[in-house]
Amino acid sequence: MCVTCEGKLNGQMKHDILSRFIELGEAGDDGGFGDDKSLRDVVLNFVIAGRDTTATTLSWFTHMAMSHPDVAEKLRRELCAFEAERAREEGVAVPCCGPDDDKAFAARVAQFAGLLTYDSLGKLVYLHACVTETLRLYPAVPQVSAHARTHDHRTPVRCNAMQCDADVAAG
Ligand code: HEM
Repeated sequence: MCVTCEGKLNGQMKHDILSRFIELGEAGDDGGFGDDKSLRDVVLNFVIAGRDTTATTLSWFTHMAMSHPDVAEKLRRELCAFEAERAREEGVAVPCCGPDDDKAFAARVAQFAGLLTYDSLGKLVYLHACVTETLRLYPAVPQVSAHARTHDHRTPVRCNAMQCDADVAAG
């Protein structure tokens, strides 16, 4: 059964990334997401673009935090304050967990994840600074190079992983 039909048979559309592309395809202004092959390609693109970049950045982030205990402590304090504030807003208690209580720790992590929202993430400014600094020191994509096939147009482009100018093809 095709992905699109299965989504429809299961009733309501969900709002994960695949469902959003399916909806785009159905809306007509699809940009090419109307069939299973295009959906497969776009999902694969996201998986390939998102997996190693995120994994290496998180690995370097953890390495840097572990090798700078003062930074790790500041991160811990920011996260604890954030957790307490968000729990207060949601009217839930912050679960206690001792250092050897894996089950209680897992429950606390699960609750913490539930307290994260797009807007509330903006409050974690020190965490943001640490991730940004990790990307500066160890960019997962250190260079983005795009070259014009013909040199009749030159468009300077600012790249986001490492500041650079690149020539891109006209049109
Ligand atoms: C630390 C994590 C990441 C870094 C450093 C990173 C970096 C980049 C860079 C430098 C580009 C090229 C932008 C350009 O051409 O100017 C790019 C493109 C892209 N990234 Fe990421 N990325 C990350 C995570 C992700 C994740 C998690 C996803 C998807 C879930 C993703 C999906 C994409 C896609 C689809 C493109 C192509 C956009 C286009 O067609 O223009 N990336 N990324």
